[in-house]
Amino acid sequence: MQIISQSPTDPAFVQDPYATYARMRAAGPLVRWADYDMACATDHATVSAVLRDRRMGRQVPAELAPAPDPARAGFDAVEAHSMLELDGAHHARLRGAVLRSFTSRSIAALAPGIRALCHARIDAFPAEDFDLLDAYARPVPVITIARLLGVPDAAADDLLRWSNAMVAMYQARLTPAIMAEAEAATAAFCAFLRAHLAMKRQAPVDDLISTLIAAEMPEVDLLSTCILLLNAGHEATVHTLGNGVALMLAAGVRRSDPAAVEEVMRLDPPLHMFTRWVLEDCEVAGETFRRGDRIACLLGSANRDETVWDRADIFDPDRTGPAHVAFGGGAHFCVGAPLARMELQIALEVLWERCPGLMLAEPPVYADVYHFHGLERLRVQDASRG
Ligand code: HEM
Repeated sequence: MQIISQSPTDPAFVQDPYATYARMRAAGPLVRWADYDMACATDHATVSAVLRDRRMGRQVPAELAPAPDPARAGFDAVEAHSMLELDGAHHARLRGAVLRSFTSRSIAALAPGIRALCHARIDAFPAEDFDLLDAYARPVPVITIARLLGVPDAAADDLLRWSNAMVAMYQARLTPAIMAEAEAATAAFCAFLRAHLAMKRQAPVDDLISTLIAAEMPEVDLLSTCILLLNAGHEATVHTLGNGVALMLAAGVRRSDPAAVEEVMRLDPPLHMFTRWVLEDCEVAGETFRRGDRIACLLGSANRDETVWDRADIFDPDRTGPAHVAFGGGAHFCVGAPLARMELQIALEVLWERCPGLMLAEPPVYADVYHFHGLERLRVQDASRG
């Protein structure tokens, strides 16, 4: 396996990781990324195979579990019951409960509210140039997931704050300040949810939280599931919407159909790296792995695999080919994919319809975090409003 060095905090890499990915794919289906000291699957076939391989999992093998760290105890307790960090029966139980309440009917019922929300946000766009992330891409997904869980819109700002503090724990370099903020956010988030759940228990209605409560899972599973849905349910959608608007404005294309949304997700997905623990000794793409090894799936690299898509670096909503892997694959395939797709389509459709003169006011800048590939700001102006 070839060794590739690339600092994940190198600003040039964070702005455009795709040239490094091309170098990695040229080096083979698996490379050792020196900075993570981890094997990485680079192409579409290998990433798809690893995601579906039952000899691997998300959950750290018991003998390798790190010693408890009191500085992050609250965060770790929530994560230990998050379906994204579990495998086997516990994972299946939590995922099943969410999928049962996350029906196509409950998702479709959100569409009129999302559309109205998009219009209301656009009504409030300033006349001057402004940041489309703050004004549109951020509030729409967070309010939508809050509504799905039956949390009042007014709580959206708190949710966003707590969620951002918790999600910061996935950064490459953790500092005591990041941990302390995540701990405080976790405590505040749990306290809010406990009160909210108590209220819902008294007066159940037809929403996701009430259905999850009816599934009678332990309180800690319920808290972790709600937090995961709120965290996973907005961050990636915000970034996909921002990335999509930026790349369509740059390409002079204004589309919102399902094919355009899929092409945005293929070309510039928001989440680039998901790891799997090897649970039993095995061989992958000719390389031997031992229990306890880790393999990272480079989703952003797999989506640019030139052996799968012609001119893979170009935005071409009319291309054909296999499904991208932006939503992962296998047992942990994103449960929110249908909601995310619907939100993205509606948000783009309303934006293009209401703002025909929208254009970039400055080149978009990505945030300085490799694990969430999204823009820091997206300054635009709408010539048709003037
Ligand atoms: C899992 C991407 C939106 C909830 C995942 C995974 C990916 C992903 C790649 C799999 C991780 C792995 O295999 O290790 C995305 C993207 C989104 C998006 C790109 C937006 C464009 C959402 C939304 C929700 C959501 C809107 C909830 C409403 C989840 C949950 C999981 C998950 C709960 C864990 C599933 C499991 O472990 O079984 N997502 N997601 N996601 N996503 Fe999403």
